Amino acid sequence: MPATIIMGGQWGDEGKGKLTDALATDADVVVRANGGSNAGHTIQTGGGVYKMHLVPSGILNPACTCVIGAGVVVEPNTLLAEMDGLRERGVDLAKLRLSDRAHVVLPYHPMLDRLEEAQRADDEIGTTLRGNGPAYADKVARRGIRVADLLDGASLRRKLDREIGEKNRILSRVHGQPELSAGDIFDDLIAAGGRLADHVVAAEVLVQDAIAGGRNVLVECAQGAMLDVDYGTYPFVTSSSPTAAGACQGAGVAPTQVGRVIAVFKAYSTRVGSGPLPTELVDAAGDTIRERGREYGTTTGRARRTGWFDAVAARHVVRLNGVTEVALTLLDVLDVFDEIKVCTSYCLDSVTLDHLPAGEELLAQVVPVYETLPGWRVPTTDVRTEADLPAAARSFIRFLVNAIGAPITRVGVGPDRQQLVPLGAHAEPVADQSASPPRIPIS
Ligand code: GDP
Ligand code: IMO
Ligand code: MG
Repeated sequence: MPATIIMGGQWGDEGKGKLTDALATDADVVVRANGGSNAGHTIQTGGGVYKMHLVPSGILNPACTCVIGAGVVVEPNTLLAEMDGLRERGVDLAKLRLSDRAHVVLPYHPMLDRLEEAQRADDEIGTTLRGNGPAYADKVARRGIRVADLLDGASLRRKLDREIGEKNRILSRVHGQPELSAGDIFDDLIAAGGRLADHVVAAEVLVQDAIAGGRNVLVECAQGAMLDVDYGTYPFVTSSSPTAAGACQGAGVAPTQVGRVIAVFKAYSTRVGSGPLPTELVDAAGDTIRERGREYGTTTGRARRTGWFDAVAARHVVRLNGVTEVALTLLDVLDVFDEIKVCTSYCLDSVTLDHLPAGEELLAQVVPVYETLPGWRVPTTDVRTEADLPAAARSFIRFLVNAIGAPITRVGVGPDRQQLVPLGAHAEPVADQSASPPRIPIS
C-alpha cells in the first residue's frame, strides 16, 4: 500500500496535527519527517487539547506505531518532557519509536540560534529559538551528533570533545559568552539516552518493512512548503525541507512508494516571524481572522500575521509537490465576512506575475491582485456534510480548487477532530490553470 504524505501548504500551522490525527484512525504507522520542537501540532478531542512538538500526531491511536524519523532534529530533554506530559494524560507511548539517525539538538544550538538572531538585528528571521537552524547546519556540515551516539558513551564523548572546542571558541570569542562544559553536556545526554533507549530503532527499516507488508503509512511533515529552504521565501524559512520530497527523505520512504500527497491549507494565510507575506492584512479584517482563528503560535505564543488566501503561492506549492489533494482548514473563521478575497496573481511594476519571484526584496514589493467572492455569513461549525455547507462557501471552495489546481477533499470547520467535512469527488479542478501561465521575463 503506497504511503500518504501530509504536508503544510503555506507558512506552517495549517492544521497538519488535526488532519494527521484524523487520518491516523486507520493508519498503522505515522512518521514525522522533518523539523524539531519548532513545530507545534494541535489536536483537539473530547479529552482536551494536545500540543505535539516532536511526537507524531498519530499517538492518540494506541494501535498506531509513531516514528520520529531520521530527518527530525531532537532535543532529548524536550522529547522526554513531551513524553512525560503525554503519559500523565494517559497516552500510551509503547509504540513510539525514534530513529537512531535523527540528529540531536545540543545545548549550544539554541544559544547560537538566539545569538545569531540578535546579530541579524533588523533582518532577524523570527525563528522559534529552539536551535533548529544551528542543529541542521551542523548536520549538513557533518559535525552533528545523532541519536545513535547517545547510546554509545565512547562515541559520544569523542564527538563532543571534538565539537565543543570549536563551539566554545564561537561562543566566547565571537559572542562574548561563557564556555560550556563537555562533561556536563555528556552526562546530561547519556542520562537522556538511557531513558530514550527503548524507543530507538532503525526507523527506515521499520518504515520499509511496513510498506512492504502492505501497512498504511502516513508521513507527517512539520512547517509548511513556503518555509522550505529551497522553494520558500528564503532566507525567511526554516532549515529543513517541509516538502513532499523532504518528507520522503526524512521518513525513509522512496518517492515511488508515495500514493497521495495531501497538502493542508488554511482558507486564508498566516505566518509567524519575519519575511514576505504578500496578502498580509494589517487592518480590522486581519484582526478578525487572528481572533476568530486564535492565531497565536502553538510553540512560542507569538501573534501570527494574517492575510487573505494566496493562490499564487498555493499553485507554486501544488505543482512542486505533486499535491494530489488538499485539506482546507479553518473555513469557519471566514463565517463572518461579507466578502472574501483570494489573491490570484501578483503585480510587480505593472507586470503580472503568476509565480513567486526568488528574491525576497521583489516578493516584498508585489501587489496582490484579488478576486472578491461573496461571504456566507452563517456559522459552519456544526456542518458535517458537504450538502449542509452554505452555497457561497461551496462556491468559495470551488473557486479555490480551480485557482490552485488541486482537488479539495476535506474542509475544517472547527478545531475539534469531529469538525472535518469530507467533500465529494466533484471537487476536482476544471482545468489546470497553471498549464500555460503568463511568465515574467527571466532576465
Ligand atoms: P499545525 O502546526 O499545522 O498542526 O497547526 P497548529 O496546531 O499550529 O495550528 C492550527 C490551529 O488551528 C490549532 O489551534 C488548531 O486547533 C486549529 N484548527 C485546526 N483546524 C481548524 C479548523 O478547521 N477550524 C478552526 N477554527 N480551528 C482549527
Ligand atoms: P508547524 O509544524 C509556523 C517559522 C518560524 C520562523 C522560521 C524559522 O507547527 O507548522 P526556525 O525556528 O524553524 O528556525 O524558524 O520558521 N516556523 C514555523 N512557523 N509553524 C511552524 O511549525 C514553524 N516552524 C518554524 O516562526 O519564521
Ligand atoms: Mg503549528
